[in-house]
Amino acid sequence: MITEITTKELNVESFISDKVKEINEAVGDGTAINALSGGVDSSTVTMLGHRALGERLRTVFIENGLMREGESEQVVGFFQKLGITVEVVDARDEFFAALAGISDPEEKREAVTQTFYKDVFGRIVKESSSKHLMQGTILTDVDETVAGIKRQHNVFEQLGIDPEESFGYRIIEPLIQLRKDGVRKVGEALGLPCELFERIPFPGPALAARVIGEVTREKIKTVRAATAVVERLLKDRRAFQYMAILHEDRVTGMREGKRDFGQQIEVRCWDSVDARTATATQLPFEILEKLADEIIREVPGIVSVTYNIAPKPPSTIEAV
Ligand code: XMP
Repeated sequence: MITEITTKELNVESFISDKVKEINEAVGDGTAINALSGGVDSSTVTMLGHRALGERLRTVFIENGLMREGESEQVVGFFQKLGITVEVVDARDEFFAALAGISDPEEKREAVTQTFYKDVFGRIVKESSSKHLMQGTILTDVDETVAGIKRQHNVFEQLGIDPEESFGYRIIEPLIQLRKDGVRKVGEALGLPCELFERIPFPGPALAARVIGEVTREKIKTVRAATAVVERLLKDRRAFQYMAILHEDRVTGMREGKRDFGQQIEVRCWDSVDARTATATQLPFEILEKLADEIIREVPGIVSVTYNIAPKPPSTIEAV
């Protein structure tokens, strides 16, 4: 049973000193590894871990081929400025091979999880002498996994999976009692620049969670280009999260007077505090038109752009 620390009752300074102590006790005089994706949760864990362990924490960025435009360079650059070295590990081929032929949402999540933890991480940990993996699981991830809504890519013990037995290392999860808004406060207090701690959430399975149906290099390229447009046009609207989703079914369109059986992008933009419930942001129609215009212009193959207006629940924030 995990006890929630609500954002209201969170005392940031004592939370940080408690966690630094706990991490030190868990790791002893050993070393730990953590994977940084650049999201709020893993960035906060990186700062917390380096505060506790210094050089004894090795931070890696797994290039899974599913990240957004320029993401690895940007994240590595941010942390370099903070004095933390991030190692980039290229595992693109492994992830695309694992995702080939799979279209079921939960199987896709499982493929990303297995590739990440067992293949790529298992190998990195095995090649090092580390026995500890630190990660930024938060309470919302646990809730939704236990409720069977979505299998979050970073939740094991709550599902009865022993990471030590399955993957050969122990997992340390210092943020597991917090929700997103609490994590932001901790990240800010640890000195993350506001560009980082104010970044919108991005899921562990990355753009694979935003492709309906089979994930291929080609489809990731399409959803990545659409994501760049959506993020650029919606960044100043103070929404909780916004994204582009590539649909699987095609629709008839026309281009230069000819029939074009093209692809569809769904745009989502959410107002939410903690991701447990959410509603669609009431975007002005001019913004919606601009989104459609730019996506159609900049992303090859797209003939339809829609905006999701259903709330969560019954919708969820990501489409997969
Ligand atoms: P959903 O789609 O379940 O998302 O309404 C709730 C919040 O969690 C993020 N999300 C994930 N985060 N691993 C993560 O670390 C995941 O597998 C995952 N799936 C969804 C989502 O972006 C939203 O902020």
